[in-house]
Amino acid sequence: MPKILVIHGPNLNLLGAREVDIYGKVTIDQINNELKSVAEKRKVDIEIMQSNHEGEIVDVIGKAKKNKVNAVLINPAAYTHTSVAIRDAVSACGVPTVEVHLSNIYAREEFRHTSLIAPVAKGQVAGFGKTSYLLGLEAAIELASK
Ligand code: DQA
Repeated sequence: MPKILVIHGPNLNLLGAREVDIYGKVTIDQINNELKSVAEKRKVDIEIMQSNHEGEIVDVIGKAKKNKVNAVLINPAAYTHTSVAIRDAVSACGVPTVEVHLSNIYAREEFRHTSLIAPVAKGQVAGFGKTSYLLGLEAAIELASK
């Protein structure tokens, strides 16, 4: 079975309580349950993690190929705009990566308009709340099945 690794970046553990006007009331558990149910139907293996730590995210991306991951789905959260280390990990890992965001980062503060990850990702989905993850998962399944 193709294997997809889902990575939620910093503060996404607070979804549902955090800035609900921007991110909505959906919790990370609800998102994960929907991703798992799609994965089950589509017969792909899914592994999900959340981390507030840049180095931990770098480590897990770096091990993706060795761990037989076929595609990565990542919401790098605030690290989207700051992390050269995560960008380099995505670029180096040899596993196709899909970037997702709940909010439309281009319609928000200017510092969010730049994604350091986007140029090394296969593509990006932003602005659709939890649907961004579901659309991103579709793309990741396609990439993982190639
Ligand atoms: C986010 C957008 C980022 O700018 C922000 O730092 C986040 C969440 C999103 O999903 O909309 O933490 O990645």
